[in-house]
Amino acid sequence: MHLNFTKSYIENNTWDVLKKEPNLCNINDITQPIGQEHYMFLASLGIQLKNKTIVELGTHKGVSAYVLSYGNRHHNSQNRIVTYDISKFDMPFIDLYNIEYKLSNLFDKDIREKNRNLLLNSDVIFIDIDPHEGILEYEMYKWLKDNNYKGIIIYDDIKLNRGHMGSQAESSMIEFWMKIPESEKIDLTNVGHWSGTGLVCFNLSDHIIVTN
Ligand SMILES: C[S@@+](CC[C@H](N)C(=O)[O-])C[C@H]1O[C@@H](n2cnc3c(N)ncnc32)[C@H](O)[C@@H]1O
Repeated sequence: MHLNFTKSYIENNTWDVLKKEPNLCNINDITQPIGQEHYMFLASLGIQLKNKTIVELGTHKGVSAYVLSYGNRHHNSQNRIVTYDISKFDMPFIDLYNIEYKLSNLFDKDIREKNRNLLLNSDVIFIDIDPHEGILEYEMYKWLKDNNYKGIIIYDDIKLNRGHMGSQAESSMIEFWMKIPESEKIDLTNVGHWSGTGLVCFNLSDHIIVTN
């Protein structure tokens, strides 16, 4: 894959998102600048990817899935987008039309095995799940590595420390991120989410990832 994650590229390619999707103006986070909120980064990902499979873990109200599918609506990206959550939330400003929305826990070993083809054949996996303690995130990292995953994993919240939102866990997203070898990761927080955005890939040299 060839992906450009420079600030100027993302800005130049997403400046009209709110113009084309006025329903998104009702969502405060969407209107926040690049590096504060990750939605324009995700929109640019959905624009740059063509005919790819994107799996999202952590749908919540569907905002990120909807933004990932912006490229399908306005740039003929023709990506397949599959999003998972374990709880159902109201989605007042968006619809998941043309997005495969599933209530299922792919962090459960048995369920993950049943969905191994989808996960391992996907091009991008975006992981943004509560409680952001770095435990499930690392388990998924190890499983994907052990199974020779060839795609790109994007992790939200890599800068969150212990105790985030009252967590009692003796682990954190920061510690998770530190465990990933330098050769497998790129910190994209400057164009992603204030809480940290990280890219992981086990074969980074097979891809061209342009950053600032
Ligand atoms: C921070 S929200 C996701 C926000 C969303 N990605 C966005 O940017 O609009 C975290 C979500 O992770 C979900 N979640 C927690 N555990 C999960 C799991 N094992 N699999 C999938 N989703 C999970 C929660 O229910 C919650 O909706």
